Amino acid sequence: MPIVTRLLSEKRTDGVLVIEATEKAEKLSLMDYIHQNKNTLEQLNIKHGALLFRGFDVETAQNFEDAARELDEELKNNYLGTSPRNSITKYTFSASELPDFYPIPQHCEMSFLKYPPRKLFFYCHLAPLANGETPVCDFRKVYKGLNKEVRDAFEKNGVKTIRNYDGPDAKGKFDLWKLKRWDEMFLTTDKAKVEESCRTNGIEFEWLPGDKLRLFNEQDSFIKHPVTGEGVWFNHTQVFHRDAAALEYSHIAKRQKLAGSYFYSAVTSFLTFTKRLTMKASDLGTHTVFKDGSEIPREYVAHLEDVIWDNMQFFNWQKGDILAIDNFSTSHGRMPYRGPREIYVCWAANA
Ligand SMILES: [Fe+2]
Repeated sequence: MPIVTRLLSEKRTDGVLVIEATEKAEKLSLMDYIHQNKNTLEQLNIKHGALLFRGFDVETAQNFEDAARELDEELKNNYLGTSPRNSITKYTFSASELPDFYPIPQHCEMSFLKYPPRKLFFYCHLAPLANGETPVCDFRKVYKGLNKEVRDAFEKNGVKTIRNYDGPDAKGKFDLWKLKRWDEMFLTTDKAKVEESCRTNGIEFEWLPGDKLRLFNEQDSFIKHPVTGEGVWFNHTQVFHRDAAALEYSHIAKRQKLAGSYFYSAVTSFLTFTKRLTMKASDLGTHTVFKDGSEIPREYVAHLEDVIWDNMQFFNWQKGDILAIDNFSTSHGRMPYRGPREIYVCWAANA
């Protein structure tokens, strides 16, 4: 058979589905394959959360964008997330320009916006020398896996995300905890345009002294999947909470067992401890609290991280791979890595 399908993990009965073209001599057209199987692929994507296409004729960012559009014709290029990204083609961006040591915890893309994307696509143009996986996690399993106390607390209280951004004058300043300046995020230095974009996207904003911008989002902690009605963990607590980075890095160190990972784990824990003593939580680069402003206990975040890591799935990128993700059920992240790495992303609108 020229195309085989298998689960990514042999130990599981569900999860990421790999769709692999096996005829290496003459690469198969991914566009043709998608075109002929579009409805089936749509259903498989919802069932499995993510599909990994491997071994097809995808060699450029434009090939990737074309294949993504074949899967979902409504690609978008507005990005109000936190990672610095470079534009590659009209609808394709570098997945993240964050430094290689910097982990990106699991998240459903832009879950804190009024209209998060419904689909997300990644493409491997250049695989890293080591690590640098884009693990995924079915957040339907996270919803089910949380213990009752934690799930009830999030269900009852919802979450509020706080993000603080420097302005254009901070260009060139390095801060481990802040991701982008507001002019980079909104692609303008015009404050009126920033405010308009915030209103459109349901973001509250506050200008602070020193040309800083603080953004707030309030949201429920969970959604019902728009097609299946299943409960889904759908917020960024495990990314933005002040304890999240240290908790994340301790999981990474346990997995990678590298001296560098243990080093960054220790540094992150120390910095978190220091910031807890010296800074107001609302002044941190990012933080998450319950909607009423009360703090989310650290042990809740730790439990959440444990459940997420229990359900994460990993694979090593190969050049030409495309990963299609149902953003309303399945999260993604990034592991620290070595060597150059070129992973591109594009996404499709919310309905
Ligand atoms: Fe992302």
